[in-house]
Amino acid sequence: MGKLVVTDHPLIQHKLTILRKKDTSSMEFRNLVTEIASLMCYEVTRDLELRDIEVETPLAKCTGKEISGKKIGFVPILRAGLGMVDGVLNIIPGARVGHIGMYRDPETLKPVSYYCKLPKDVSERLIIPLDPMLATGGTLIAAIDELKSLGVTSIRTLNIIAAPEGIEAVQKAHPDVDIYVACVDEKLNEDAYIVPGLGDAGDRLFGTK
Ligand code: URA
Repeated sequence: MGKLVVTDHPLIQHKLTILRKKDTSSMEFRNLVTEIASLMCYEVTRDLELRDIEVETPLAKCTGKEISGKKIGFVPILRAGLGMVDGVLNIIPGARVGHIGMYRDPETLKPVSYYCKLPKDVSERLIIPLDPMLATGGTLIAAIDELKSLGVTSIRTLNIIAAPEGIEAVQKAHPDVDIYVACVDEKLNEDAYIVPGLGDAGDRLFGTK
């Protein structure tokens, strides 16, 4: 079973509360999502491998550390995942960014991929899908299916708010994937919105409602 990590740092919890408020403007919402994604990025990369490296300071030689192991690729799931990209790139500017777009087929209600553009060496990277809301898990599961079909073997997801139902579904479908969230909310409602949640993350990010 994959790990569930709740990044409950006080700064993240404080910012998340403002994010939830219905009167928070789109501009503030975007800034908060960026900041929360930056802070969560520390946690999702906490166990990255390091190796020793010799450097020379103006005073002496010393041994420092540099990140070794797999390079990182972030994959925002369109459209709300885009809101997290600047935040994670603020912390890891050299990471590559792929994109996956999914829509829900109105007849089968299953997620269908309509766009996928990933780094060429995607299968060699640690891939971190980004989606602020982990609701039913359907989209995230389909995105992970797609990544695995391209040979990706190392995946951990970054979500701001998750419903217990979505976490369970992802853990069941992909037991090798760790899930990093800022908060686990109460439940999904009949329209598959997270309660209490924050509403539609895409609409709130981009002011489309
Ligand atoms: N997507 C959202 O943007 N909000 C939810 O509550 C669920 C899915």
